[in-house]
Amino acid sequence: MPKQDHGAPRKGWHILITGASSGIGAALAQYYARPGVHLSLWARNQERLEKTAEDARSKGASVETRSIDLSDAEASLKAFGETDDQHPVDILILSAGMADIRPEGALAESADVALKMSMVNFATPVALATEAANRMAKRRQGRIGLMGSVASFHDLPLATVYSGSKAGIGRFSTALHAAMVPYNVKVTLIAPGFIDTPMSQRLEGDQAFLVPVDKAARKIARAINAGRAVLVFPWAFQLTRALEAILPRPIAHRILRGLEIMQHPSSS
Ligand SMILES: NC(=O)c1ccc[n+]([C@@H]2O[C@H](COP(=O)([O-])OP(=O)(O)OC[C@H]3O[C@@H](n4cnc5c(N)ncnc54)[C@H](OP(=O)(O)O)[C@@H]3O)[C@@H](O)[C@H]2O)c1
Repeated sequence: MPKQDHGAPRKGWHILITGASSGIGAALAQYYARPGVHLSLWARNQERLEKTAEDARSKGASVETRSIDLSDAEASLKAFGETDDQHPVDILILSAGMADIRPEGALAESADVALKMSMVNFATPVALATEAANRMAKRRQGRIGLMGSVASFHDLPLATVYSGSKAGIGRFSTALHAAMVPYNVKVTLIAPGFIDTPMSQRLEGDQAFLVPVDKAARKIARAINAGRAVLVFPWAFQLTRALEAILPRPIAHRILRGLEIMQHPSSS
């Protein structure tokens, strides 16, 4: 007997995914792609986005793409309003993100990177999720997935802005979940460990419990469909979180300062 697919979308659903040109967003697009499903796929790189779109169309989905830079929150909000007016969004997945760490030899990330990452990883997703939640609550239906990270569990000296932006999105997401439950809008925080995507492939260093991207997409879709408040995976990262919580902070920080991770430049 075929295994039941607990993340499968209903016929007629409209699913909007940011970060659909690569990695987890692209894998989610392929997961959801099937006849009767409409996908709106967003990212900056039109060529890579078209590749995801073509693959999804070949599986029977109808697909629209939009090239958009999430560091422009106003343009992103306007685009969301237009898309939702045209065809109400049933599932919004805010997967896009950037993950630049402190460059080798630098004392901290640059202020430019800090500002851009705060917009892409935090401010714009927060604005989009808030707009979507208000619209979905009026319709008494909807699902929103926000992309956090297990990096948010730790004070990472190499990635202060990344871990900070993901911690912010984490608190926002669970608070929005609490606010939206009465209106049948379910908000899910996704907090993954290492997933095998171009983002993690830029890193040199140990990547414990690395998860294949297709497996990650299935897990994420299932959690969103179930309306879970939080998905942390692999589960072992709950242990590192608990460990940091019980260690005296100076000791935890000394250990975290010793982490050696190198990051290759981004291709985009
Ligand atoms: N991979 C991991 O190990 C891991 C672990 C924990 C959390 N995450 C989170 O999961 C999410 C997806 O990451 P991934 O692994 O799939 O990375 P990825 O393969 O590098 O994909 C990142 C996506 O975000 C889009 N993006 C980046 N900056 C953007 C901007 N300014 N405007 C619009 N789109 C932008 C990229 O598209 P364009 O370049 O075409 O714009 C791309 O589609 C991120 O939020 C990341 O922080 C990943």
